[in-house]
Amino acid sequence: MQTLTLPNGSRVPKLGLGTWGMGERRGEVAVEIRAISHALNNGITLLDTAEMYGEGGAEEVIGIALKGLGQRPYLVSKVYPHNASQSGLAAACERSLKRLQVDHIDLYLLHWRGNIAFEETIEGFESLVSMGKIGAWGVSNMDACDLAEIWSTPGGDRCQTNQVLYNLSRRWPEDTLMPVMKGKKMPVMAYSPLEQGLLADDERLKVIAKEAGMAPLDLALAWVVSQENVFGIPKSVFPERIDGFLKAVERPLSYDLLEALHLAFPPPIPGSPIEML
Ligand SMILES: NC(=O)c1ccc[n+]([C@@H]2O[C@H](COP(=O)([O-])OP(=O)(O)OC[C@H]3O[C@@H](n4cnc5c(N)ncnc54)[C@H](OP(=O)(O)O)[C@@H]3O)[C@@H](O)[C@H]2O)c1
Repeated sequence: MQTLTLPNGSRVPKLGLGTWGMGERRGEVAVEIRAISHALNNGITLLDTAEMYGEGGAEEVIGIALKGLGQRPYLVSKVYPHNASQSGLAAACERSLKRLQVDHIDLYLLHWRGNIAFEETIEGFESLVSMGKIGAWGVSNMDACDLAEIWSTPGGDRCQTNQVLYNLSRRWPEDTLMPVMKGKKMPVMAYSPLEQGLLADDERLKVIAKEAGMAPLDLALAWVVSQENVFGIPKSVFPERIDGFLKAVERPLSYDLLEALHLAFPPPIPGSPIEML
């Protein structure tokens, strides 16, 4: 598995499995555990989750899957903005650790910007790092202006990534966000790389994928992870779809294929605002 380097020097796999939608219905837990186990047994070593997903249910499903497997992947979780005060972070992190059944989260992200000052959130994250409860921290759903504010806040230079909506039909980060992140050597963690499965029905993609002999969603993922310094965290509960993710990230895309995608899905116009789900 290819890796990317965070600003702190840690090497992190370029592909992870997303878990939004897991842990919401009791009847689907077995299928979700099977999917996570399949992913981890077949080369995926990063899981992305959040306290929000299933209101803790997704973290619980991961905890059960990991216990059964005896494996310890790189774990990314996210805290609600309303829990991002000093005391709120400590309590939310403890709850997540308990559900995940681990003693630390590798990368803990602020899910989106809320009303608590970055200064307090960063102090809270740094306390968790010093206590060994988290390995590192980052943010999600931030635009270039938000990041500038974080970097000018004491301790803000220890932010490791920004997880944002990025796929062929959502190229907004290429305008101002990706250039500033590149300047800080900070990888982009692309969420919803398949546009939540909707790209499967995109006529432009279907034509190009057919010619390339690939499934449209596998091509969509391959395009995301072929971008410089970008992680992809697609989600599926089907083992065969997860196998498709693994194959897609190992497949280099030719110049002609990249050009065809670039023409079919044009880059953002200057000044494009942040997009998020
Ligand atoms: N930070 C944030 O604010 C934020 C927001 C959104 C997402 N995320 C993270 O990013 C992860 C990925 O994003 P996402 O879950 O929104 O969307 P996604 O990965 O773009 O797409 C997932 C959807 O596509 C379907 N799918 C996957 N492979 C498929 C295939 N081969 N054919 C047809 N359908 C397929 C999945 O259904 P099945 O499961 O039924 O296969 C699921 O409904 C999330 O799970 C979450 O961890 C973060």
